[in-house]
Amino acid sequence: MIDVHCHILPGIDDGSKSFEDSLYMLRKAEKAGVTDIILTPHYISGTKYNADNVTKWKLLMELREKAKQAGIAVRLYLGNEIYIDQELPEMLSAYENAQVMPANPHAASGKIYELSTLNSGKYVLVELPVGTEDKSAYSTLFSLVQRGFIPVIAHPERYIYAQNNPRYFDDFIRMGCVLQGDYLALIGKYGKRAEKTLRKMLVDGKIFCLASDIHKTTDEYMLDMTEKKLVHILKDARKAEELLVDNPRKIILSMV
Ligand SMILES: [Fe+2]
Repeated sequence: MIDVHCHILPGIDDGSKSFEDSLYMLRKAEKAGVTDIILTPHYISGTKYNADNVTKWKLLMELREKAKQAGIAVRLYLGNEIYIDQELPEMLSAYENAQVMPANPHAASGKIYELSTLNSGKYVLVELPVGTEDKSAYSTLFSLVQRGFIPVIAHPERYIYAQNNPRYFDDFIRMGCVLQGDYLALIGKYGKRAEKTLRKMLVDGKIFCLASDIHKTTDEYMLDMTEKKLVHILKDARKAEELLVDNPRKIILSMV
């Protein structure tokens, strides 16, 4: 499996607290059959859940080195799970122009140096409010699409308004967004309504890829169990592979 959403980069958000935790989680991931991981700490503007890209890159390089020394072969990449913000299109355009890293990291300040797209490509992992619909989400994401980005909407099954209306994201998909389900929802991690919603979205062919959204050392990957359930729901092992491996790989390679 290729995991495009998790909180294993240490010390940035409510995920891993230390390199030790991160290595423990990476070992679990490798054992479960994960080969590649995009580390996607939360980015929530105006809160403590953000960090500049220089800091995140340093943490990534250090984690890669420590993982290598520990004999862990999982490949690691950087991204962010970005909480939707009307300023996002402007921020990401500026970021793209700055080509990810500022010319002089020490002179870098401000929001444009705080966002990471998925492996610095065109896919952008975006989180929406869980309880109340953000009426401007469509236009914000449309602005991203117009600028050449592909918004990846994180865990659509968890939003109450999508649980009430599993076709809620159809217009978003037509406009150019893709949906990333949290596969652990299929085995009940987020309750019955999330499970039912994800199942419906999968059967309707709305889901582009599945990811773990792992936060804690106590979280389990449960990939074997999930894959079985997924194949049962889709009645197609090849399609399951597409959601767990092929499409996540497209994200890493920034392919359409
Ligand atoms: Fe997440």
